Amino acid sequence: MKNREVFAGERASTYDTGIKLWCPDYDFTQALIPSLLGSYLSYTNESSILVAGCGTGTEMKNIVQYAPKWQVMGVDPSLEMVALAEKKLAILPPGSYQLITGTTDQLPNSTLYDAATLLLVLQFLSDDGAKLALLQSLALRLKKDAPLIIFDIFDLAGSFRQQVSLLKAYLLQQGVAPTTVEQGTSHIIHDINYITEDRLQELLYEGGFGKALKFKQTFIFGGWITQKQ
Ligand SMILES: C[S@@+](CC[C@H](N)C(=O)[O-])C[C@H]1O[C@@H](n2cnc3c(N)ncnc32)[C@H](O)[C@@H]1O
Repeated sequence: MKNREVFAGERASTYDTGIKLWCPDYDFTQALIPSLLGSYLSYTNESSILVAGCGTGTEMKNIVQYAPKWQVMGVDPSLEMVALAEKKLAILPPGSYQLITGTTDQLPNSTLYDAATLLLVLQFLSDDGAKLALLQSLALRLKKDAPLIIFDIFDLAGSFRQQVSLLKAYLLQQGVAPTTVEQGTSHIIHDINYITEDRLQELLYEGGFGKALKFKQTFIFGGWITQKQ
């Protein structure tokens, strides 16, 4: 069972620049997160947001800058990604965020959050119980009706390879070297545990969430919002 993905060394230090290239609308998606949360939570009230797999802290920074009354808890098993997040978040008011190195299931479940995000994380876990366990661990830590935003690599109705071809053409047009494009897309095809949207909906249902609403898709990247049941 693959229940985490290691982000260390160069993979961690080059993450912020690399992801913007490989995930064409990464910045746009990140910019959407606060307003998506804001359609469920009030900006003027205090709310707690669990950011699972926070990586270098981009969504945490965007959320707090948009809604200073909200508090974010970032959790990530990579020491190096958490260290990069610490640096990025140092500009935020003290007390507006907390960072923990670890996985979501290691957080106490006595505190229930008002919302959660899971951006580019589920895709790494195997669908042999690990994806479900992560979703269940989130459900256990959310209040009823709390929104969960998911952004993930997925298979749009069996068109995965075709979508990867479209991504490849985009990367080449951006000037990425053909060998780099081949290596990167081969990694995506062979190492990512992508699933269909139907399977995601099944896992969400089993994990304690409602039917997810898809808010975007570009090539292999999809975004959904669901709620804890
Ligand atoms: C592709 S990065 C995404 C980071 C950030 N959410 C973003 O959108 O930029 C994936 C992150 O998930 C973390 N991760 C891997 N397995 C995890 C797990 N089981 N639970 C939580 N985070 C995990 C990795 O350490 C890594 O920092």
